Formats: sequence, C-alpha cells, structure tokens
Amino acid sequence: MKFATAIGILNTMIFAASTEGKKLRRSLGGHLPEEMCSGNGVRYMIEEKDELGFFGLTPECECFDCYVGEECETQLPMDQCEADASGVDLGYSKEILSFPPLTITSQYRLDYEGWKTIKANDKSKPIDYTLHRTLTFLHKAVDNVETEGYTLVVGMGSHQLLQAANHAISKKIGDSSVYCQVPYWSKFPRMANEFSPRTVWADKTQAAAAEETGSLIEIIVSPSNPANLLHGEQEPIMASKDRQVWDLVYYWPASYANKDALTKLEEDIMIFSLSKLAGYAAHRFSWAWVKDPAVADEMANYVSVTTQAYPANEMIYSINVLQAILKSLGTENDYMKLMQEELMSRYSQMASVLASKGGCVKLASPGGNMYTLVKCDGPCQPYFEKIGLEVSSGGSMGFTGEDAENHGRLCYGYESSRFDVIIKKLDLLTCPSTDDD
Ligand SMILES: Cc1ncc(COP(=O)(O)O)c(C=O)c1O
Repeated sequence: MKFATAIGILNTMIFAASTEGKKLRRSLGGHLPEEMCSGNGVRYMIEEKDELGFFGLTPECECFDCYVGEECETQLPMDQCEADASGVDLGYSKEILSFPPLTITSQYRLDYEGWKTIKANDKSKPIDYTLHRTLTFLHKAVDNVETEGYTLVVGMGSHQLLQAANHAISKKIGDSSVYCQVPYWSKFPRMANEFSPRTVWADKTQAAAAEETGSLIEIIVSPSNPANLLHGEQEPIMASKDRQVWDLVYYWPASYANKDALTKLEEDIMIFSLSKLAGYAAHRFSWAWVKDPAVADEMANYVSVTTQAYPANEMIYSINVLQAILKSLGTENDYMKLMQEELMSRYSQMASVLASKGGCVKLASPGGNMYTLVKCDGPCQPYFEKIGLEVSSGGSMGFTGEDAENHGRLCYGYESSRFDVIIKKLDLLTCPSTDDD
C-alpha cells in the first residue's frame, strides 16, 4: 500500500468523529483527566484494581504537587506548598492522546524473542513488521529522518540505546572519551563513567585531545536539552561521523516550534524514545536507526546481553501509542501540532509573568520544548527556593563557575493542573528592585 493511502485510511479511522475541540478530544481517552482525581492527580482504577485488591487495597488518588483531598480537589495556597519542575515528563500528552483500551490476556506469552534488530518488509513476523512500518510511517509523515537503508534496533529507553551505541563504538576503537557540549542532559556523565575505563566522560578540552587520537565519542542532542538548540545552532561537532551518536529524542514537531527547521537527517546512529515523544517514560520504549549493519548488530548484542530483548507486553503498548500519534497526523487532532501549540503557549505565559516581575529571572532558551533554560541575575537557587519551585541546577548540566549558579532548567510539559501551579509559583517571584520599593 502506498504510504499516503495508508495514512489516509489510518486518519479516517479513529479521529474521524473527533472534530469538536479539546473537550471531545479528551473524551476519546479511557481516563478523562477531568474526572480522574479532579484532573489534579492520578488513580489507576482499571489498571491496578485487581493487583492492589489482592492485598485488600484500592487505588487511591496520588495528588500532584500542591493539591490535596481524597479527589485532589483542593489546590493549596501557593506559599504553602512545594512543587517540582525538575523532571522532563510530558504529562500534557494525556490530554490530547489516547488509544483504545488494551487487552493483554494470559495467553499472550511469547517465548524469548529475537527482536533486537527488526527487519524491514519481513512479514514472517507480523508484529515486527507492524512495528517497523509504524515507525517508518511516522518518520515519513513528519520527514525528520531517513529510515531507508537503516537497521532498526529497539531498546529499553534511549538510556539503553545510548549505552548500546557507546558500547558498539568503543568496542571498535578501544577505551573512549564520551562528550556532549554544555549544557547537556545531566545523566550523560554518569552513564559514561559507570563503565570506566571503557568509556569516560570528557569536558571540551579533554574531548579535543581525544579526537586527536580517534578515541572520542560525541553525543549530539538536537534540539538540545536544555538549551533547545538544533545541531546547526550549536558549537561545531568534534568527532568524526562514525563516532557520533545522535540523540534525537526531541527531534519532532511536537517539541520544536519551527517544524520546517527539522530537516531530514541521515546520521549514522539516530536514537528516539517514547518518553520524550509522548510522555511514556516508565514504559522504556526506544528505537535507533543505525546505518552500519555491523554497528547495529553490536548495539543489538548489547541489548541482548543486558536485557535479552524488549518486553512483549510493552511492545504492544508502544505500538498502540505510536499508531495513535500516526493516526492523528493531518487531522484536527494532530498530536504534533496540538502539543507544540500548548508548549509554546505555556512558554509565552511564563515569559510574560517573568517579564512582569522585573526580569531578574528570564527564560534563556527558545520556546517550544518541554523545558527551558532559565537565567537569573545572580544565583537562581534563592529565587526558586523562596517560591517553593524546584528546578534543575546549572551545575548538573555542565555549566561551571558563575554560569552554574545563575542558570537552571525549568520543565513545563506536565499535566495542565501541574502547569497551573508552575505559573502561579512564578507569579510569586519578586525581583530585588521590587523588594526595595
Ligand atoms: C537528551 C536526553 N536523552 C535521553 C533521555 C532519556 O530518555 P529515555 O527515557 O528514553 O531513556 C533524556 C531524558 O531526559 C534526555 O533529555
């Protein structure tokens, strides 16, 4: 079937009836955010009832920060609660994305699976075929990367595939230095150093020295976390192409404002994740497009020796999420478009609240992603401590000296009620000059 025809048919399937705006969009879901714990918390009645019931327990609401009550119906005064904006969760996706309830019976019991690399066009394993096709259709629909001629490797979150890539490259070149330019995702250094001396984290100077000896592995994050810059806007890449690992978990129109700037990439190793595309972090589904089949095999070998293969139930779950996104594209409920509109609107709201406070805390990266860098006049920590809002520290993302103190990362892709708390917290900020008045 031609790609365009297939998309057309998919599009007409579940989203055909959903043309009446946000309320109806929400009503497509099995868990109406408004009804579950007043929209201010989570209670997994369907999913966890039987298991908790085994020990006489019933699912209860776990309220988001600053909400209390049996149904999380009460929002605390903002000066009487603490909220966490340091984790990159994408809870907002619950409000725009849904798929039919998923039934997995006790008969669904697969044997040890070999799906570490998944072949294109191999109908002998229909679920592999379906996953491959779902992913290739999704990439084609947004035109962000080339998949033709690449091997698909599936893993447990981009964590595992980043490690698999580092492993595959370092197996080829020997002990390696791993580098990503500042500001970077805070876990990268730990992930490299844990496997020292095979892989060791490097700063910029050490990375330049490692490149001289051909022992550098460079992680390129585009758009970057937390600066939200595309690769072309960042410092030049140091490592040769075969030693580059492209972390593209945010390379989607859902999480980048100018979708036309997401030009089609054809890098050697390109890694994606359902955590960042759609907020399914605990489900640990990720995939990589790998150009060199030998590198793909080595990455698959890493998956094999660490976790054997991707879990069967989660594979079905992930395909459902991916197909729900795919079905929505080009419809009124276009997942990428709705997500981006919301993230951008939130960014603008935060920017104007901060501007109204006098500018001692500013958003310091372009809007449109689920996080933003913030820059403060002086150390950020006292500002955020005072309003009870936790943000990630500049030091954790590689900044040093004053830059480490004066920067932070604020995440805001959460459920609407959590964002409501963030915006109210920001409204409590006082800049020194205002204090003096
Ligand atoms: C740039 C980057 N890469 C990878 C990850 C890890 O994602 P996953 O849940 O797929 O392991 C994160 C998480 O914040 C991230 O920001």
